[in-house]
Formats: sequence, structure tokens, C-alpha cells
Amino acid sequence: MHVVIIGTGYVGLVSGACLADFGHEVTCIDRDKAKIERLKKGVIPIYEPGLEALVNNNMKTGKLTFTTRTDIAVGRADIIFIAVETPARQGDGRADLSCVYAAAAELAQHIKSYCVVINKSTVPIGTADEVEAIMQKTNPEADFDVASNPEFLREGTAVRDFKCPDRIIVGADTERAIARLKTLYHPLCLDKPPLLCTNRRTAELIKYAANAFLALKIGFINQVADLCEAAKADVQQVARGIGLDKRIGSEFLNAGPGYGGSCLPKDTLALSRIAHDFSAPMTIIDAVIAANDQRKEAMARRITDALRGDIKGKTVAVLGLTFKPETDDMREAPSLVIIPGLQQQGANVRAYDPQGMKTAKHLLKDVDYCQNAYECMQGADAVVILTEWNEFRELDKTYMKSLLNQPVLIDLRNTYALEELETFAYHSVGRPAA
Ligand code: UGA
Repeated sequence: MHVVIIGTGYVGLVSGACLADFGHEVTCIDRDKAKIERLKKGVIPIYEPGLEALVNNNMKTGKLTFTTRTDIAVGRADIIFIAVETPARQGDGRADLSCVYAAAAELAQHIKSYCVVINKSTVPIGTADEVEAIMQKTNPEADFDVASNPEFLREGTAVRDFKCPDRIIVGADTERAIARLKTLYHPLCLDKPPLLCTNRRTAELIKYAANAFLALKIGFINQVADLCEAAKADVQQVARGIGLDKRIGSEFLNAGPGYGGSCLPKDTLALSRIAHDFSAPMTIIDAVIAANDQRKEAMARRITDALRGDIKGKTVAVLGLTFKPETDDMREAPSLVIIPGLQQQGANVRAYDPQGMKTAKHLLKDVDYCQNAYECMQGADAVVILTEWNEFRELDKTYMKSLLNQPVLIDLRNTYALEELETFAYHSVGRPAA
């Protein structure tokens, strides 16, 4: 099949590379000329494990190509994905759909034969209807269907998530569109992930509901962690105890400094707005959003408390800046709230992150950026694990103690077992003190 993907962001690039790997002829389009030129040379704009090799291998076989020319690519497409960004609109948190609508209007002009246009971007309920209307108005002769096919991949494991999905959601209102999507995903479905066909609006809502539910789970366990601290219980054992119940499930029950990233914060906010717009408010999600915002702020206080309430003039070493490991993405990362919180109280902050420092340098000022975890700890009064990168999981405790002014470790990701840190003043999340 000839597949065209408009937008070479996270979702577009990963989907394009994976679909090419499954044997489809894929053309990825982006209006950013410089980005396309770099991609043609195999330079990947994001850090995502496995993606660079996948892109380069499929470019070599000719299955994956990059261009800025919508006119040429769209003319021969069987399937066109719209995978452009839908950022939260300044001021009200609603998804900004201007890029989606612009893409729809542009591609409509170049359709030559029947194709299915698919919204892969996360879009509010009714967007497929709007895209269809824009395309019909732009080119009344064009033969097409619009479908919704949300993506559930996670940064850091995006290639694996695309290739081994839990489910594929196809929101389409015509049989011919469904048939074409089934053909597209046939190679993937050999491993039998369920392909669930719904109407377009349902598919659009599934995406928001999935991300909001994940945020809800994290928000829930974070509050349970607070309760555990007050009641001298252990949140990891509570999570295991409830997670073994199949109705609850064990994933997304790791307590931490609050969720971040480009999706959960944006999509919970957008779902809240959508629900209000439909006069069916989701107050439960409003509460999750507020709790998560408060949690990030509370984490700076927790670090101060570990230093007995006064961090003025003290040096804090922060390990991990990105919103989660295996990504260079800093969007909505807890570090963006916690580090300024520490600085406001007069702390000096040193920091190290394996992939995030290039972006962090633009976002977090007056931070002493270091080359590795141990350099970061040199002469610090406390060390904070903010993101659970693998390289922070087996730190040399004896060496750490020789570097730190005092052995204080605030582990906001519960990276270590309590008994491993008995000789430290060890503060973790929702667990009794060592
Ligand atoms: C999320 C969803 O997990 C994907 O299914 C979805 O496709 C994606 O958004 C999207 O809409 O594109 P992602 O933003 O990559 O994926 O990150 P997650 O793995 O969901 O993590 C989000 C945040 O929650 C991170 O800050 C992470 O540290 C935090 N988290 C996650 C916890 O604090 N505890 C957990 O147990 C799990």
C-alpha cells in the first residue's frame, strides 16, 4: 500500500518507519525543509531507542522516503495519515487544531483517486467530521473517507509499542474505509492484537479516555503514597497488593513526583474542556489535574524538609531532568517545577541527565550542568533522583558518600530497596524511612 504521513513528529515518524518495516511504501511529509533534509541524511530529530536504525534501514530499501511535496506524494496514496501536532491552546487548554485543519485543506487539493484520510493526532470529538467538511469544501470532486485511528505509543518504547500494540482502534463510518485499514494493519494483526472498529467519535474519545485513565491511576497512587507516609505503610506493597487484582492491573501504579510529558498533562486538560463543552463535566479528571500540579510543587518542599527545612546556600544534585527515562523530552517534566522551587529558596542546583540537558539548558537557568552522575554529586549537600534512568539504579554508594558533603538521598522514583541505603539519610516516596 502507498501510505503518506503528514507530520514527522513522534507519532508520524515512528508510525512511518514501522509501517515501512511492515512492507508498505511510506512517504513522510513535513513542511519543515531543514528537518526533512536532515531526515534524508538519516539524522533523527528525537532520541527514541531503535528509531534511527529503523528509519535508516527502511530508507535504504526504498520503502521509506521523506519530502516536503504534498502535491506529489498525496496523488498516489491509498492511505494518508494526519499526524501533526495538536498543542494545548494558550489560555484555555483546548487542543489547537489549526495544523490538522491546514493539513486537511492542503491534501484535499491533491487527491486523485479514492483514499482514506486518517487522524492519528490526538483530536477532540467531532474533529473527523470537521476534517471531512473542510476537505469536501476544498475539493468537492475528491473521493475519500475520513477515519480516526488513535495511537497509543509511549516515548522511550515507541517502536515496540507500535509493533506490538495492545489494541488497534479503527474509527470509521464506511465499510470501504474499514476494509482498507484492516489491510494496512494486516501484518501487525498476525500477532493478534484486537482490532476494534467503532464510529469516529468513539475512537476520538477512546484516546483521551485512555490517557486520562492512566493519569488517574498515577494521581491515585501518588495520593496513596502520601497516606502511606502518614500511616507508616509501604506504597509499593499497596500497589502490588491492589495490582494483582486483574480488574485493577499492576501497571501505572508507581508513585513519583507527578506525571509529565507531552501527552498526559495536555490530554487531561483537553478532556476536561471537552467534557465541559458537552455539559458532561468530568470533575474526577479536574481533580487529577489539580492534584498533579500540586504534587510537583510539593516535591520541592520534600527536598527542603530532607535538609531540615533550610536549603539557602546549600547545593542540591539533581539526577534526571526529562519527564521519564529513555527520552530527551523535557515537556511538562517535574524538574521544570521542582528545580525553580529549590532555587527560589536559595539552593544551588547541579544537574545531570543522560539525554535531556541540551533542551534543559534553555529551560532551566542558573543550573550547573555536569557530565555524569558522580561529577554532579561532588560537594553537594543532597542528591535527588528525579528520573529513573537505568544508570542511576546501581550507583556506587561508597563513592557517593565520599563525594557528598553529607549522605542525603531523596529518591523520588523509589529506585532503591530501603535496606540498600541504610547508611544514608534516605527519603523515598510512600515508604517508611530506612
Ligand atoms: C502516554 C501514554 O502512556 C501512551 O499510551 C500514549 O500513546 C501517549 O501518552 C500519547 O498520547 O502519545 P508518554 O507520554 O510517552 O505516553 O508517557 P508515559 O509512559 O505515559 O508516562 C507519562 C508520565 O507518567 C511520566 O512522567 C511518567 O514518569 C509518569 N508515570 C508513569 C508515573 O509517575 N508513574 C507510573 O506508574 C507511570
